[in-house]
Parts: sequence; structure tokens; C-alpha cells
Amino acid sequence: MKIGIIGAGAIGATLAQRLSAAGHDVAIANSRHPDTIDREALSTGARAVHASEVTSGADVVIVSVNMSNVPDVATLVRAAPEAAVIIDTSNYYPLRDGHIPALDDGQVESLWVAEHYGRPAVKAWNMITAQSFTERATAPGTAGRVAIAVAGDDATSKEVAMTLVDQTGFDPFDAGSLPESWRQQPGTPAYCTDHTTAELPGVLNKADATRSGRRRDLAIAAVIERSEAEGPVSADYLVRLNRAIY
Ligand SMILES: NC(=O)c1ccc[n+]([C@@H]2O[C@H](COP(=O)([O-])OP(=O)(O)OC[C@H]3O[C@@H](n4cnc5c(N)ncnc54)[C@H](OP(=O)(O)O)[C@@H]3O)[C@@H](O)[C@H]2O)c1
Repeated sequence: MKIGIIGAGAIGATLAQRLSAAGHDVAIANSRHPDTIDREALSTGARAVHASEVTSGADVVIVSVNMSNVPDVATLVRAAPEAAVIIDTSNYYPLRDGHIPALDDGQVESLWVAEHYGRPAVKAWNMITAQSFTERATAPGTAGRVAIAVAGDDATSKEVAMTLVDQTGFDPFDAGSLPESWRQQPGTPAYCTDHTTAELPGVLNKADATRSGRRRDLAIAAVIERSEAEGPVSADYLVRLNRAIY
């Protein structure tokens, strides 16, 4: 498939590597010149392009930008071919993204995102840390394989997203519709806690929308404090912290 990735940060770069390695024709763009994209992201064949070109002819567009940048990339997404599957990885972090009134506690982040894109969007790869995404990919059938929840309203688009999740090294888990996707937002028990397919239904069920915003902010404050003092935190630290707080 022809895949365009908007955003070449921690998640977008790994997506480009994995999906190219799986045989897809991948183009990736950031907000600047293609030369600024990390060579590692291109190491398995992905092409660095300008953002204005990245959705051209795409079968799938994956958006992996901070939520505050979603309105900036909306025009690009809207310009994608009508049949293109749109997948979004974003999460809202007020401490990082600033206050977005429409995303006060209880809002379904991906509905806000889909509204900007003006088309159905699938939520995927949002609930695994960049660290686990890099380090914990395994082959299908591996015991204890980490699962990634996929939410969306269009069955065909969701099926495409689930196949791609599998190809990036994780068990795809159908987490239902986009309105239900608040159960995989920051601060919920399923969020960045590296559960398996067998465990996910239970943890998604435990989500409490009235507490997730506060828990998200507690966890991010702890990560900021630790990383300012000791440098980048590990995948294991993040999973233990999130499991304790969420
Ligand atoms: N990091 C994680 O652990 C993690 C895990 C799961 C999901 N997520 C979510 O996934 C999203 C991406 O996360 P990340 O950690 O990969 O972010 P990141 O490292 O900050 O990268 C963001 C990327 O978006 C690009 N971008 C911003 N505005 C753009 C525009 N107008 N046009 C094209 N590209 C643009 C940036 O380009 P420039 O470099 O040119 O500014 C950068 O390449 C976020 O919403 C995040 O919450 C993150």
C-alpha cells in the first residue's frame, strides 16, 4: 500500500521504518524540509518528502503530530484521496500542548480530531509509549505479545489499521467505535501499560472518564520530574509508573 505519514517524531519515524520493512511504499514528512528527517526513519526504504506531497495518491494517511498541531495539518488530510484510510496517533497533554477548551475532561479526543479532518478517522498507536513501541515489537504468535487498541467507526478502515498494527509488531485489538475511544486516552488503565489481547478487555472496562485527566497530569508531572533529574526514562519505568497511577 502507499502510505503517507505526517509527523516524523518518536512515533512517526518508527512507523515509517516498520511499515517500509513490511513492504509498503512509505512517504514521511515533518513541518520542515525533508532533509531534516532523521535518517534512521528512512533506513528501511521510506522516502522523506515535503508535507505538501505526503498524502498525494495515498491509500493510507497516518497523522502523528502533537494534538495542538492537528488544526495545522487538517488541510493536508482533507486533501488526501477520498478513499484513503485516515489513522491518527495523537493524545492530548495539557502540560505539553497547552489548554484546548474543546478537550476539557470527558471529551473524546479522536472525535475532535476527526471533526478537523472532516472524515472518518481511526485511532491507533496512541496507547503505547514511544519506548515500548521501539523496544517491544514481536512476531505474531509470540507469547505475551503487547496489544494495541484500535478504535474507529468504519469497519474497512479499522481492518486496514489493524493489519498495519500487526505489521508493526503488536497484536491489534478492536476497541470499538470512535466515541468509545476515550477508554484508551491518557490516564486510563489501558493507556501505555503494555497489556496483552487477553488483558485489554478488562483494563478498557475499568476506565473512569472522571479520573483520567487528573491521573494523566500526575503521570506526566512525574515523568518530567524524573527525566529533568536523570535523563530519559525507560520503557519499563513508564509502564510501571502508568500501571501504578492509572
Ligand atoms: N511519544 C510517545 O510516547 C507517544 C506515544 C503514542 C502516541 N503519541 C502521540 O502521537 C503524536 C506524535 O507523538 P511524537 O512523540 O512522535 O511527537 P514528536 O516527537 O513531538 O513529533 C511530532 C512531529 O509532528 C511534526 N509536525 C508538527 N506540525 C506539523 C505540520 N504542520 N506539518 C507536518 N508535520 C508537523 C513535527 O515536525 P517538526 O519536527 O518539523 O516540528 C514532528 O516531526 C502525539 O499526538 C503524541 O501524543 C506519542
